[in-house]
Amino acid sequence: MLVRLSFVFSLALCAAAATNSTAAISSKATTSTTASSTTAASSTAAATSTTTTATTATTKLPKRGLAFAADNGTDISQANHTAGVASWVYNWGLIPPSYLVDSGIEYIPMQWGAADIENLAVSVKGLGAQTILAFNEPDFDQQSNINATYAAELWMQYIEPLKASLGIRLGGPAVSSGATGRPWLTDFMAACSQCTIDFLPIHWYGDGTGGFYDYLYQIHGQFPNHTLWITEFAETSSNDSVVLDFMNQTITTLDGLDFVERYAWFGYFRPKDGSHYNLLDVNGNLNAAGQVYVDGAKKVVNALPNPTGSGTPLNGAPVTNTAGGYTTITPPADTGLTPAFAQPTGNSGRRTGGSVLGNLGGLSAMLVAMGFGASLVGL
Ligand SMILES: *[C@@H]1O[C@H](CO)[C@@H](O)[C@H](O)[C@H]1NC(C)=O
Ligand SMILES: *[C@@H]1O[C@H](CO)[C@@H](O)[C@H](O)[C@H]1NC(C)=O
Ligand SMILES: *[C@@H]1O[C@H](CO)[C@@H](O)[C@H](O)[C@H]1NC(C)=O
Ligand SMILES: *[C@@H]1O[C@H](CO)[C@@H](O)[C@H](O)[C@H]1NC(C)=O
Ligand SMILES: *[C@@H]1O[C@H](CO)[C@@H](O)[C@H](O)[C@H]1NC(C)=O
Ligand SMILES: *[C@@H]1O[C@H](CO)[C@@H](O)[C@H](O)[C@H]1NC(C)=O
Ligand SMILES: *[C@@H]1O[C@H](CO)[C@@H](O)[C@H](O)[C@H]1NC(C)=O
Repeated sequence: MLVRLSFVFSLALCAAAATNSTAAISSKATTSTTASSTTAASSTAAATSTTTTATTATTKLPKRGLAFAADNGTDISQANHTAGVASWVYNWGLIPPSYLVDSGIEYIPMQWGAADIENLAVSVKGLGAQTILAFNEPDFDQQSNINATYAAELWMQYIEPLKASLGIRLGGPAVSSGATGRPWLTDFMAACSQCTIDFLPIHWYGDGTGGFYDYLYQIHGQFPNHTLWITEFAETSSNDSVVLDFMNQTITTLDGLDFVERYAWFGYFRPKDGSHYNLLDVNGNLNAAGQVYVDGAKKVVNALPNPTGSGTPLNGAPVTNTAGGYTTITPPADTGLTPAFAQPTGNSGRRTGGSVLGNLGGLSAMLVAMGFGASLVGL
């Protein structure tokens, strides 16, 4: 929901000529055979005394993807290394910039709105794409803003034919989780009864796993014949440890749900507008959440020096390193995974705003400001 039209188009426009990305996709081994003895994190002096267990032979997670909203293409380098577990990437655009093509991670193109849809077939053919996404939050007037009837017409004219001619898997429109989302989708499905929708992407923003699971199961209950992709989701709390815990629980759940085909956390970008769900720090390195999501870290060690060495959580408070030692943040055991089938709660469908000042006060920003990275301990 957050990517502005101009941003999407600027990425698309600066892209190099259409490239057949199939080669790049297939060149990416699903399993790394090289054991690594180095931390995936951007270690600094603070992290040097932290034990790092090597990630041996990282297995890519087939569902896990990157919603690449970064302004700086070099940021993708943090995803493509031995420890990386993400297996696909999208950027709300149709033509991948060269840095995404070269990343070796499968790129999924998107027909974001109605504009230029006449060129869709030529573009996806040039890309050698096997899967596409369609219409980003068409129910939302600040996003692609297409009514359901018109979207169905566009689908039948420009999207549906790609299946027969090119064998492409078609992702349906991705509605917002706001009040307009499900009514729009219901109307679209009725208007598009002849459409072949291979999977249904959805979005969710809110606070707490309960609302997320409720929404997921409501959509699944309404459209049981469609597998789902969650192409944007995030915990909107401004408490980094709440965000991390939500992520920890939900990605584990999504990996195990057979009606969920793929998912992409929102998102792969540096801190912006007070966000706390970004996966990168201000320098484009993986932050604590990024290490869990992108590198599959099991446990995140806060590399800030602990003044007492007692293991007391630091909660982001500035400290002086008087005694050395590190605080380990261990997310609590998974709870609340049973869907309640209730109305979503805490789910406005809109990202909550945040001030720059609020963000600067956050733990991840502070880690950077103090020159400390975080490192990983494998379990
Ligand atoms: C990183 O990308 C390169 C292509 O530039 C690819 O050859 C390599 O396999 C990728 N590495 C990983 C771990 O994905
Ligand atoms: C893309 O490249 C792959 C691998 O070289 C090839 O099999 C496929 O036919 C190509 N697709 C297109 C549309 O050129
Ligand atoms: C839907 O959008 C199309 C294209 O903009 C427009 O022609 C049509 O009047 C709209 N229909 C409704 C019901 O708003
Ligand atoms: C799901 O598919 C089955 C079998 O084709 C069909 O009977 C059923 O009506 C479908 N359900 C919905 C909600 O479309
Ligand atoms: C953040 O959330 C954690 C876990 O719920 C809690 O222990 C901590 O007090 C919260 N921090 C702040 C600053 O609210
Ligand atoms: C992209 O990020 C890298 C690493 O932080 C930096 O060196 C480079 O200047 C940035 N490029 C742009 C265009 O901002
Ligand atoms: C979530 O936290 C638990 C408890 O620390 C840990 O065992 C598990 O590996 C974590 N899951 C992820 C995906 O990081």
